[in-house]
Amino acid sequence: MKLTEMEKIPNFTNHRYVIRMMDPADWLRHYNEGGEVVNDFILPRGPRQQDEFSDTVYHAGTEVGYHWHEKGFETFEIAKGSVDCVVNGVHFVAKAGDLIHLPPFTAHGFVFLEEDTIWRELFQEIDMSGGILEKNMVNDYYEPCKEDADFMKMYRTGKLVARQKPAAWNDAPVDHSQVFQCRTPDFAWVRHEGPGYALQLKICKFETAGCKEIWHADLKKGLKAAFDYPHKGYDLYYVQHGKLKLTVCHTHAEAKPQTFIVEDETIIDIPPYHTYTVEVLEDTALYNYGGYHDLQACLEDLRAVKENDPAQVENKEDLLRFLRKYQVYATDLVWQPE
Ligand SMILES: [Fe+2]
Repeated sequence: MKLTEMEKIPNFTNHRYVIRMMDPADWLRHYNEGGEVVNDFILPRGPRQQDEFSDTVYHAGTEVGYHWHEKGFETFEIAKGSVDCVVNGVHFVAKAGDLIHLPPFTAHGFVFLEEDTIWRELFQEIDMSGGILEKNMVNDYYEPCKEDADFMKMYRTGKLVARQKPAAWNDAPVDHSQVFQCRTPDFAWVRHEGPGYALQLKICKFETAGCKEIWHADLKKGLKAAFDYPHKGYDLYYVQHGKLKLTVCHTHAEAKPQTFIVEDETIIDIPPYHTYTVEVLEDTALYNYGGYHDLQACLEDLRAVKENDPAQVENKEDLLRFLRKYQVYATDLVWQPE
């Protein structure tokens, strides 16, 4: 095709603002791995390989051997089912609604206890999908090399490192709420509440070497939020259940607003420099997996300023300037209960 012909093709990026995780039409890639099925939704982005997002769905009895990573962060949400886990030598059973956060050198192994266990994965600094693709290529094209010790030594460099299966597998499991790496639904480092919303800080920035902090939010019907400042970085939400109206004010496809109704098990992925509004149509539970903001520092500092020097943030312009120092771009937040 000639350049002049290419120029006639309308612009497209294939970016999806809304990704329904249970709909094959929204899957980016899909691998059938035997004991498991992997569906990729977002590939790693930026120099720190943030936001890589996938599902792995397991048959009952599938095992992931005990291992650690020398680099990168794994955050798993158990969306459905239960999982027999050993993390850093502690045996426990993780249940639906738990979030398991694993920094480097945290050893972990799993046995999936129920058919159809859904394990939702957020990775930083790992490029898991790239690794799986490479593994599949070795399987498809270089099978004999797997018998070659030198090849395997080269191939394994920098990848996950198998660890000795710990005796703890045979111990009685401790309660999952007792395990530091397992964040049960009640767990929060801190909570912030306001009209129509309740926030729980699940994972702090210090737990991801500054990559991101992870919040859980319960939002009440009638809450409306506007993000009408062109922010850097991706805003990324994982809606567990509920119903939202998302309006992206100016999309790559058209210079006019596009509206989406977002329901259960859906990712909202807003690229940099986009403005948008969210209206909560039914009570909604979601995770904020977005990257750049320092929301905890912002809310803490805002509380202090409101208490000790409220004039600093009394008018809206001053308040917004204050919030933007922390890369927080919610410009309006109102709750109108029925
Ligand atoms: Fe792992």
